[in-house]
Amino acid sequence: MLDKNICYQKVVEPVHVHTKLVQESKFVNVVKTIVICGALLTLIAATLFLIQPESQTRSDVSYTSTKSYFRANLFAMLQGQQLGKTKLRELPPGNPEGNEPEKVVSCYYNTPSADAAGELLPRDIHPHLCSHINVAFARVVNKEIYLEDIQYQALRDIVKLKKINPHLKILISVGGSGNEDGFSKMVIDHASRKVFIRSLKYLLRNYTLDGVDLDWEFPAVHLDTFILGGKRERQHFSQLLYEIRREYIREKRNYLLTVAVAAPEAIVDIAYDVDQINLYADYVNIMTYDFHYFTKYTPFTGLNSPLFARPREQMYLASLNINYTVHMYFSKGLDKNKIVVGIPTYGHTFTLVNPGNTRVGSPASGFGSLGSMGFVNYPDICTFLKTYNDAVIEEDKHAKVPYLYRGWEWVSFESPQSVAAKADYVKAFGLRGAMIYSLNADDYSGSCRTRGGQVKFPLLQSIKKSLFGNDTSNYA
Ligand SMILES: *[C@@H]1O[C@H](CO)[C@@H](O)[C@H](O)[C@H]1NC(C)=O
Ligand SMILES: *[C@@H]1O[C@H](CO)[C@@H](O)[C@H](O)[C@H]1NC(C)=O
Ligand SMILES: *[C@@H]1O[C@H](CO)[C@@H](O)[C@H](O)[C@H]1NC(C)=O
Repeated sequence: MLDKNICYQKVVEPVHVHTKLVQESKFVNVVKTIVICGALLTLIAATLFLIQPESQTRSDVSYTSTKSYFRANLFAMLQGQQLGKTKLRELPPGNPEGNEPEKVVSCYYNTPSADAAGELLPRDIHPHLCSHINVAFARVVNKEIYLEDIQYQALRDIVKLKKINPHLKILISVGGSGNEDGFSKMVIDHASRKVFIRSLKYLLRNYTLDGVDLDWEFPAVHLDTFILGGKRERQHFSQLLYEIRREYIREKRNYLLTVAVAAPEAIVDIAYDVDQINLYADYVNIMTYDFHYFTKYTPFTGLNSPLFARPREQMYLASLNINYTVHMYFSKGLDKNKIVVGIPTYGHTFTLVNPGNTRVGSPASGFGSLGSMGFVNYPDICTFLKTYNDAVIEEDKHAKVPYLYRGWEWVSFESPQSVAAKADYVKAFGLRGAMIYSLNADDYSGSCRTRGGQVKFPLLQSIKKSLFGNDTSNYA
C-alpha cells in the first residue's frame, strides 16, 4: 500500500524528504509522490471548482454563512487523508479560583449587503452579549486592508455600540472563507507586510477599533495551483504576526491581535507554526465547525460541530470534534488561556437517500431543502419545527448535539442546550472563551420564542449564561 504521508512530508518538510529519498529508491518514491499528491489534489480541486455557488434566491439574502462552503468543502475533502499524528497531552482541569484572564465571547458579525432587507443591522446587535465583535470580512487588496463603502458604514455603526457598553471591543476581521486572494502577495516579504501593517494602523486609528483578527483560509494551502506547503507561507504568516505585535509595542497601543484557525489537523500542520501564533496572538479563534458537510465525496449525514467523538468513530473520524481539536492545539503548544472554542449558530442540512435510515452517518444525496447550500440559520430551524410537528429531534448523547429529521430532510443544528454544553467545556478546562459564528445566524429577531417570552439571540444568551452565570434573557 502506498504511504499517504509521502505527500504531506514532501510538501511540509522538503529537506527531510530529500534525505529519505536518497536512502530509498529515489525514482520510485518520486513517482509515488507525484501520483499520490496529484490524485489527492485533483480530487480536492475538482470538487472545489465543480461545486459552484448556485445563484441565490432573494430570500437567501441573510445566509451570510453560505460563503463558508469553500471551507466546508475543503474540510470534507481532507477526510481520510491524515491520521492524527500528534501525541495528545491531557488538558488539566480549569481552576475557577485562579486568576485566569477574563473570559472572551468573540462574535463574528457579517456586514449587511447593499439591500439589507431582513438582515441583522449593527444597531440591532445586543451590546452586552459579546465581549468582542469581529466585523467580517475585510479583504487584502494590493497588500492593504480593503473594505467596501457599505462596510465602512457598518464599522462606524458598530463602534457606536461602545457608547452603550464601554467594555465592548471591536475588531476588524480580515479574510474569511473564499477571501484568501491577496494574502500570499502581502506576506511574501518585509516591504509588502509593511504596506499591510500601515493600512491596519490607519484603519484602527481612524475608526477607533480595538484590533485585528486575521482569518486567512489558509496559509500554504493553495488548491488552485496544486501547491500545498509551498512558498514558505507558514513562516511568512508567523513573521506577519511578529511584525504586527512589534508595531503595536512600538506605537505603545494595547490593540488586539487574534487569529482564526482551522480545526482539521491536516491543515494545521501545513498552515501554522502554533508555537509562533502562541507567542504573538492575544488569543486564537478555533473554527471548530464544518466537521461534517455534504459533498459528493462525503455523501453521509454528519454533525456540524460535535463536542466529543462518537464511540463508533475510529482513527481520523475520531479527530473530527471539538475535544480532539482543543487537545491537539494544546499539545502543539497553544496555551489554554489562548484557546477560544468556535461554536456555530448555523446548522448543516442533508437530503436522505432513505427516509427510514436517519442515523448519523446515513447515506445522503445532497443538501437539504432548508436554508442555502447546506447551511441553515437557527430561526429557520425553529420555523421548520413549528411548521411540522411530526419532525423528530434526536440528541447524540456522546457528541452532545441534536439533529432533526422529517421525510428526506436531515439537519444537524445547535440548540441552547448544545451550545451551553460547549461553553461548560470551555469553563471546565479553563479555556479562554467561546467564539460564535455568527451573530447573523442566531435568532436575532426573537422569532423562536422559547417558553413564551421573546428572546433575542437565544444561542448566544445561553453561551453567555453558561460562561458567566448572568441571566440576560429578559432582553428584548
Ligand atoms: C485614515 O486617515 C488618514 C489620515 O487622515 C488617511 O490618510 C487614511 O486614508 C485613512 N485611512 C482609512 C483606512 O480610513
Ligand atoms: C477528549 O480528548 C482526550 C484526548 O484525546 C481524551 O483523552 C478524552 O477521553 C476525550 N474525552 C471524551 C469525553 O471523549
Ligand atoms: C455577570 O457575572 C459576573 C461574574 O459572576 C459579574 O462579575 C458581572 O458583574 C455580572 N454582570 C452583570 C451585567 O450582571
